Amino acid sequence: MTEPGPRTAPSRVRADIAHNARVWNYWLGGGDHYPVDRAVGDRVTGMYPSIGEVARADRAFLGRVVRHLAGDAGIGQFLDIGTGLPTADNTHEVAQHTAPDARVVYVDNDPIVLAHARSLLTSSPEGATEYVDADARDPERILHVAGRTLDLRRPVAVMMLGILNFVLDTDEARGIVTTLMGALPSGSHLVLTHPTLELGGEGNEAAMRFWNENATPPITARSRSEFASFLDGLEILDPGVVSCSRWRAAPVRQNPEVAQFGAVGRKP
Ligand SMILES: C[S@@+](CC[C@H](N)C(=O)[O-])C[C@H]1O[C@@H](n2cnc3c(N)ncnc32)[C@H](O)[C@@H]1O
Repeated sequence: MTEPGPRTAPSRVRADIAHNARVWNYWLGGGDHYPVDRAVGDRVTGMYPSIGEVARADRAFLGRVVRHLAGDAGIGQFLDIGTGLPTADNTHEVAQHTAPDARVVYVDNDPIVLAHARSLLTSSPEGATEYVDADARDPERILHVAGRTLDLRRPVAVMMLGILNFVLDTDEARGIVTTLMGALPSGSHLVLTHPTLELGGEGNEAAMRFWNENATPPITARSRSEFASFLDGLEILDPGVVSCSRWRAAPVRQNPEVAQFGAVGRKP
C-alpha cells in the first residue's frame, strides 16, 4: 500500500494487526494492504485455498445484482454498508452505468476505507455518491445520515455484502436488518452475502479460527436457516438462497459453488 501519510491516514489506522477491509483487498488483487495483512491473508489462503474465489465471486454477485436492480427493477438508490476498499466495479459505477442518475451512500467503519473514500465519491453528473464513516451496529444513525443523500420515502437497495458475519450475535444482526428495512418503503431490496460452513470450502472453519486469533474484526459463519432469517418478511428473488457464485450466473457450470451464501429480498 502507499503508506498513508498523516493527511490521509486517520490515527486509528493500525498497521500492526490485519484488518478485514485490507486483507479482502489483498485477496481481490488490490494494492491497499500492509505486510501484516499479506501475512495473515497468505496463512488463510494456505488453510482455505478457495478464499480468493469467494472474494471474486462476491464481487461478481454484486455486479449482477446491482445491474438487475438499477435496470429491470428500477431501483435508483443504494445504501452499501460494509463497502470495503475501492476496487473495480464499485456499486456506484455499476449502478450509474445502467442508471446515470442513481444515488449511492457507502458506509464502513474501517479507517483505511475512510482514507480512500474519495475514490468512491466520483459520480455521474446526474447521480450522487456519499460516504459515511459509521458502524453497522448503529442503523438509526446510518439511516439519519443516509437520508441527506437518499430519499428514504422511495425504494432503496440495502447492500450488506460480507458484513453481517462481523456481527457475531445473530439476534443483533437480525435487529440491524429489521431496523433498516423497517424504515424503508415497499419495493426496497435487501442484498446479502455471508460465509457459511454448509457449502464446502475446505479449511474454512480452521481459517476462521486462525482469523479470530490473529486479525480483526472477529468473524462468524452462519447456517442456511440463520442466513434466511435475515430475509424474513421479504419476497426472495429467484433463485433464492444459493452460493453467491450461482446467483443468476450463466453458465452455472463455469461458476463452481463457493462457501458464501447470496440472496436478494424485496420488501412487499
Ligand atoms: C469482507 S469486506 C466486504 C466488502 C464489500 N462489501 C464486498 O462485498 O466486496 C467487509 C467490510 O465490512 C466492513 N465492516 C466490518 N464490520 C463493520 C461494522 N461493524 N460496521 C461497518 N463496517 C464494517 C469492513 O471494514 C470491510 O470493509
